[in-house]
Amino acid sequence: MMINSIQHRRSVRNFLDQPVEEAKLNEILEAARMAPSGNNKQPWFFIVVRDEKMRNEVAAATNNQMWIARAPVVIVAVADMLARSEDYAGMVVDEENSNFDVKRIIRDTSIAVTHILLEVDHQGLGACWCGGLTQKNIKPVLGIPQDKFVVAVIPIGYPAEEPKAKPRKALEEIVRYEHW
Ligand SMILES: Cc1cc2nc3c(=O)[nH]c(=O)nc-3n(C[C@H](O)[C@H](O)[C@H](O)COP(=O)(O)O)c2cc1C
Repeated sequence: MMINSIQHRRSVRNFLDQPVEEAKLNEILEAARMAPSGNNKQPWFFIVVRDEKMRNEVAAATNNQMWIARAPVVIVAVADMLARSEDYAGMVVDEENSNFDVKRIIRDTSIAVTHILLEVDHQGLGACWCGGLTQKNIKPVLGIPQDKFVVAVIPIGYPAEEPKAKPRKALEEIVRYEHW
């Protein structure tokens, strides 16, 4: 049942010193590729970072969360303004920008990141969505152009911990029927 997989996923922040198999990584990327998106624009890119020096630089640029670099693989999910219009070429997309198309590319890429997290768990691996970053710090580290937006840094590896489930609101608190 899909719900069992969804309930099983946790944010994992401690990783074993064990590489992630190529086949598993490819299925994780395939899960991202298959995500739905508005107008099927697929406004995303995924940078796979395995080099240790680069992992350290990415971790430093992600609010100095240096534990990220302990994961053997880090996927950086990047939303792309050019998927919406060529007119956006060179536009600065950062935390200050409230343009509606910015929201749309971030929304779509977030769906793909969710697919990644669920497939990671399904492969017996662990990951964490890390959004504590600024465009200003992370873009230069990976040479990401201004008209892109980094949505998530996702360290992935074999879990060295079994985190307890974090609490969730009860359905009664979040679901309304027929009207607000
Ligand atoms: C958009 C987003 C940004 C997040 N950023 C970070 C982060 O920068 N660092 C971190 O350790 N966890 C981060 N998390 C993980 C959350 O803390 C975690 O998902 C939440 O506490 C629920 O726990 P669970 O994922 O184990 O269910 C982020 C999660 C999301 C969805």
